[in-house]
Amino acid sequence: MSYTAKDPEKRPLLALVDQASPPDVAAYERGGGFRGLRRVLAGMSPAEVVEEVQKSKLRGRGGAGFNTGLKWSFVPKETQKQRKKYIVANGDEMEPGTFKDRMLVEGNPLQLIEGMIIAAYAIQATHGVIFLRGEYHLGLERLKIAVEQAKAAGFLGTKILGADFDFELIVHPSGGRYICGEETALITALEGRRANPRTKPPFPQVSGLWGLPTVVNNIETFSNVPHILANGIDWYLGLSACDDGGTKLYGISGRARRPGVYELPLGTRMGVLLEECAGGMQDGYKLRAFLPGGASTAFLGAEHADIVMDYATPEKAGSRLGTGLAILLDDRASPIGMIRNLEHFFAQESCGFCTPCRDGLPWVEKLLIEIDEGRGTPDDIARLEDAARLIGPMGRTFCAHAPGAIAPLASGLKLFREDFERLVAQGRPSEGASPAQGHAA
Ligand code: NAI
Repeated sequence: MSYTAKDPEKRPLLALVDQASPPDVAAYERGGGFRGLRRVLAGMSPAEVVEEVQKSKLRGRGGAGFNTGLKWSFVPKETQKQRKKYIVANGDEMEPGTFKDRMLVEGNPLQLIEGMIIAAYAIQATHGVIFLRGEYHLGLERLKIAVEQAKAAGFLGTKILGADFDFELIVHPSGGRYICGEETALITALEGRRANPRTKPPFPQVSGLWGLPTVVNNIETFSNVPHILANGIDWYLGLSACDDGGTKLYGISGRARRPGVYELPLGTRMGVLLEECAGGMQDGYKLRAFLPGGASTAFLGAEHADIVMDYATPEKAGSRLGTGLAILLDDRASPIGMIRNLEHFFAQESCGFCTPCRDGLPWVEKLLIEIDEGRGTPDDIARLEDAARLIGPMGRTFCAHAPGAIAPLASGLKLFREDFERLVAQGRPSEGASPAQGHAA
């Protein structure tokens, strides 16, 4: 992980991140930590906090990009004493190619904790859960230590900083399935049941954990909150290069010289990310296409290599910003092999609740194996197109797993059509590496 901007003010999220030894409470405070929380508890009302976050135009960094303050505003306006409510940090980061939340929890867990305390005050929640990917052992360990430190310093528990506000926070490891990161499946998992998604509406903000109002936000999203409250809306909007607020943890994986995570103004061009931060492609490799924000986004061809990485532009080009961590496909790799690997992952990770997802994704994988290994027929390409058409649209399944899974396939069938047809005509296995193997993080 690295970043080129010298001014820590321009990269607030990573400014205090220390992978070797994260800041303790004293070091975090010396670096400006808990200023946001102190300002909030010194005299802001919950409604004022929600309004400020909404006006900062912070959008959810888990992949969907929903306005964070707006999400908080849907929570019934009752005090802590009137009704129990929950705050959940979603750190089940299992999107292949996405490893930004890991940097944040390992490198500065107190930033996340402060963001969650502010969010809890804003919606008047009494209890919080940090739900972290089970394989993030170091992150889990560091988070637990940070929670204890925050408690000992009076930032968690009862009458926080002398205010009429109590908040308890626990760390909970995920069971290790991709679907546990879907917010309603996550809630079901926390209740001790099999992690099947639930229908929305009702949204968790109204009926979440144990049927009570619950706000689920991504770890990067919460990590932005202390900075907004400490430095104000104008400062936060000024960090960005587009209409929405803040910086973004972008990333690159694949055949770049320096793959990694980089904090840049939201709306930075892909060219800056790939060429300036990641050092361009490795010698002998050319960019052929990329998934802009994780495995569940659609491929964009190399003609989009300098696209603006905000929420609107990749969508206009036929994809999505997603998590903002791009996976590169180079000219020496097999696109069919890459799609096959991704669909293997998605088929394996289907929770099995909805038929199109449970039965459709393994069928897609089987067809891709046939084509990749030189046994495919032209009909198999048509079958893949049918499957993409039938499984892909939102609304055919309970959650976004199947539509996300189909995104690289549907776009790949268009972008790499000649590769599919050539493989079928040749009747030989595909050549070249097959990148994006399952669990990349
Ligand atoms: P979504 O669009 O259904 O919801 C996003 C958030 O906004 C949720 O918290 C939801 O409660 C809220 N929301 C949306 N519409 C609302 C409304 N009308 N009223 C109240 N609240 C509303 O998206 P979803 O299914 O939560 O997430 C899908 C995204 O997750 C994908 O875009 C994908 O990029 C990302 N993803 C990220 C992964 C990771 O490891 N970070 C893994 C898998 C997917």
